[in-house]
Amino acid sequence: MVSSATQELEQAIEPLPVWKPKPPVDAPALSAEILELKRQLNAVILAHNYQVPEIQDLADFVGDSLGLAQQAATTKAAVIVFCGVHFMAETAKILNPDKIVVLPDKDAGCSLEESCPPDQLRALQATNPNFHTIAYINCSAEVKALSDVICTSGNAVRIVEAAPPEKDLLFVPDENLGAWVMEQTGRPMTLWRGDCYAHVEFRRESVLRLRERYPEAKVVVHPESLREVRDLADAICSTEKMITYCRTSPAKQFVIVTESGIIHRMQKECPGKEFLCAPVFDVNRMPTDGCRCSECKYMKMNTLAKLRDCMLHLAPRVDLPRAVLERARLPIERMLEISSRR
Ligand code: 13P
Ligand code: SF4
Repeated sequence: MVSSATQELEQAIEPLPVWKPKPPVDAPALSAEILELKRQLNAVILAHNYQVPEIQDLADFVGDSLGLAQQAATTKAAVIVFCGVHFMAETAKILNPDKIVVLPDKDAGCSLEESCPPDQLRALQATNPNFHTIAYINCSAEVKALSDVICTSGNAVRIVEAAPPEKDLLFVPDENLGAWVMEQTGRPMTLWRGDCYAHVEFRRESVLRLRERYPEAKVVVHPESLREVRDLADAICSTEKMITYCRTSPAKQFVIVTESGIIHRMQKECPGKEFLCAPVFDVNRMPTDGCRCSECKYMKMNTLAKLRDCMLHLAPRVDLPRAVLERARLPIERMLEISSRR
């Protein structure tokens, strides 16, 4: 028998709202709207290799940080719509100070950028007037403005090889990329202690397990990964070079050690080949099977709906102080010039 106290309690509790699945986003209609907005705005849509497939599929260009900077440097479009993270959109703005640059989500940051506040970099630079600062492109515009030259994972070895031999090299903010570049060039560098939170989750044991299960597979690793993982690689390279490696290699299976968004292009451009996403192991976020593909939470903030909205409202927009724009442009142009040398 139900007591009157229980009945009263039950009446007082509001019924739970009935859970309804979200209506499926009408991706084809959104894509059509985006393409029409692009025409009206005379815009170009640039997307990083980690973006969700539906964004990659309608972008004018999909690539790595170097390719995206090169596209931004040469575009004739009036508006640049940047589907990546904030520092990438900032780079496009620095190269195009008089153009409108928008991005789907202004909070799409980067753990590497966060690790290097400009005032701390300035303080370290003050300790050695002979420092030549090489900044990985994954940093803020202010940090770029404090640097001598920028690099990406696609050209870091080349940029370090081109650095003046009499200088002491300071490499910021990715210590893993910096360590790999030191191994490649033999050039000592002072390394900033930053890392990509997504790439350092890859561990030797999980890559080894995949390699044992698929002995024919080639292991392709991004240089933001830890040394224990890089040591297992058949190839270490930027996301764009990873795609080229898989396309041109006679191998049929590949273990991919980077953000899983890249698999979309690999599957499109390498038919008949198999891509195995290296799992990451994170005790705080581990699902019951102990395995999941790596996703950058910042890159994945961008959606088709946010892309449409940023074009509709021309916001969020990247704006930077004129002095920062002018100072940050020099090291980026230096990088583009060194990269274009034969
Ligand atoms: P690349 O695509 O230039 O290799 O960079 C990877 C990355 O982490 C971008 O944030
Ligand atoms: Fe930054 Fe890493 Fe995300 Fe790239 S993958 S944007 S380096 S946090």
